[in-house]
Formats: sequence, structure tokens, C-alpha cells
Amino acid sequence: MKIITSIEELRDQLRGQLRTAFVPTMGNLHEGHLSLMRLARRHGDPVVASIFVNRLQFGPNEDFDKYPRTFEADVEKLEKEGVYVLFAPTEKELYPEPQEFRVRPPDGLGNMLEGEFRPGFFTGVTTVVLKLFSCVQPKVAVFGKKDYQQLMIVRQMTGQFALPTEIIAAETYRADDGLALSSRNGYLSSTERAEAPVLYQQLSHIAQQIHQGRHDLPALEQEVMQHLAQRGWKPDYIAIRKRANLQTPAADEVAAGEKLVVLAAAKLGATRLIDNLEI
Ligand code: PAF
Repeated sequence: MKIITSIEELRDQLRGQLRTAFVPTMGNLHEGHLSLMRLARRHGDPVVASIFVNRLQFGPNEDFDKYPRTFEADVEKLEKEGVYVLFAPTEKELYPEPQEFRVRPPDGLGNMLEGEFRPGFFTGVTTVVLKLFSCVQPKVAVFGKKDYQQLMIVRQMTGQFALPTEIIAAETYRADDGLALSSRNGYLSSTERAEAPVLYQQLSHIAQQIHQGRHDLPALEQEVMQHLAQRGWKPDYIAIRKRANLQTPAADEVAAGEKLVVLAAAKLGATRLIDNLEI
């Protein structure tokens, strides 16, 4: 695997490649990321991964400084997956001057759910994704469904800018007890780690209730928020939304069988976990 830190060298290395499959990451790779690499390999060749902890998508009180950086272990894992190029630019390389041109997602989609609780987050994500796409020029790029809203926003951005990159969605990779793998799981104490699968259990409970015909969705969301709070969680949101656009479904749409997804974000101790489940 070639480890490349400069944009110019990356362009030289990938010149003439028409089927590049790209997986952008912030490193601290786990099985979830590796499953994205495997999916990328099924959709293109060569596979290019990036590792870049993108300051633009972290709020002032978030974990940019303590975000886990495990470069050597990451390199070993990517080599085993047969990744052809790892693009790992420094901040100076990717943002040689303040990144004043930014891509701002539309208010409706960008300011709800994660966007409400992490102002500026999606602008940071879309800006870096557009820039990484411009460097790698991939035919396809793989994003995990774990970051459901991110996936939707990146897909819409790619469509509206007519970028020549197809966005492929990868299923969420879960531990045996249901917890969605995330780099931030490493912040959990052992007691918190034991409690963490409850978030997915509650999403599954919501899915089950809806499948059994329950239609009072706001009440169901509230019940689960309360349940989590009683167990010591601090939920930001539990939101049952339409898969198509992440808007709240009307009662008649639910009754007519609208495709739904339930999304959740909640803090367990100091760690904020997100998850979702298509219903
Ligand atoms: O999902 C992530 O890891 C990041 O948001 C991404 C897409 C690599 C952009 O920094």
C-alpha cells in the first residue's frame, strides 16, 4: 500500500484510473471501516482510503484534540485489506489557507437532528468530502449507514453538483450485542460499554412496536427518551422519520406504510453515541 500525503503525488499516482473506489475515514479503524473497504473493492478498483481528522466538522467544545489517532495500527489493517493507496494529508496540505469556501447543506436537512445538536457539523463534512473527492476523483465512494443523515447529505450534494461519483451505502456493522461500531466507543468505561447496547435495543423496540401497528409515534419517541433517561442516558433525540427525506411522517403516511427510519443520539457519561434503524 502506498501512503501518500500530498495532493500532487496522489494525482500522479491515480492518473488514468477510471474505476477508483474511495472510502474516506477519520482513522482509528475498526471492523466497521474494514467492511467499507471490502464493499469498496466489490464496486471498483483500485481501493483508495483516506485518513484525515477534519477540524472543520468539530464544534469548539467537541473532541477534536482527543479524537483517537492510531495511524500505525490503521496502516496495518488497511494493508491487510489490500487497499492500494492511503491518502493521509496533513492539515497544512488539505487546508493550506483557511478554508473559506464551504459547502453548506440546505437548512431543512442540514440543521435538523445531528445538525441541530452539532451546528456546523454537516458544513464541515460536505466541505471536506467535496475536497477529498476533488483530490481522489473516485468513480464510487462508500459511506456507512451508521451516519444516516451524513450519507443522505453527501448523496444529495453529489447529485446537485453533478459529481461523477456514485455513493454506495454500507450497512451498519454491529458488535454481537448490537452496539454499532464507532471510534467513539473507545471512550466508554466498562460499565458504560455494558449499558451501550440498550440504545440499539430501544431502536429495535420502536421498530417492533410500529410493525405491530402502533402509530402514535411522538408518544413512542417520548417513552423511549424517558426510558433512556431513567437508565442514566442523556438523549438528544429519538426521531422516527421518513427514510426518503428525514422529515416527520404524517399519521396518514404511517398508516399507508411509508418507509421509516428511527434515528437516535444520546450521551452515556461523556460519550455521545448515535445509531439508527430502518423500519
Ligand atoms: O464519517 C466520517 O468518518 C467523516 O465524517 C468523514 C466522512 C470521513 C468526513 O470527515
